[in-house]
Amino acid sequence: MRAIRRTLMLALAMALSGCGEDPKPPVTIPNNAMPNDPALAQIYANSCQLCHANPAANAPLTGDHKAWEPRIQQGTDTLLDHAINGYNGMPPMGQCVECSEEQFLQLIGFMADQPLPQ
Ligand code: HEC
Repeated sequence: MRAIRRTLMLALAMALSGCGEDPKPPVTIPNNAMPNDPALAQIYANSCQLCHANPAANAPLTGDHKAWEPRIQQGTDTLLDHAINGYNGMPPMGQCVECSEEQFLQLIGFMADQPLPQ
């Protein structure tokens, strides 16, 4: 879990340092944050990000600790179950039918920006 956390911090730092298209002040919710792992970043960009970085989608936003906190407390099994089977506005498998459980857990950890309970 510690390694994942370090990866997250790195991804966040990279996203925030950006490549300067638009010199906006740092935002509290880094909606442009990307997982460090290229394969995971691809999945995230193609599915999760569409909703989880879009305040209009009503999904817990990437990097929004407050929004993720109560969800994390449900436990990892429930989170994984909701990601795979869907939950209200959350579509089954987050529209990533080829994703593995491991990838879902990594994506959830990345979006929640905190370690998932064991
Ligand atoms: C079409 C929009 C959409 C996409 C795409 C999407 N989500 Fe979600 N997701 C939501 C919404 C909306 C919620 C909030 C559901 C609620 O709490 O009512 C949510 C909630 C969640 C939750 C929390 C469930 C809980 O128990 O509180 C997890 C975990 C999650 N999404 C993971 C993912 C992952 C991983 C991906 C990408 C593979 C993804 N989502 C893609 C819309 C989306």
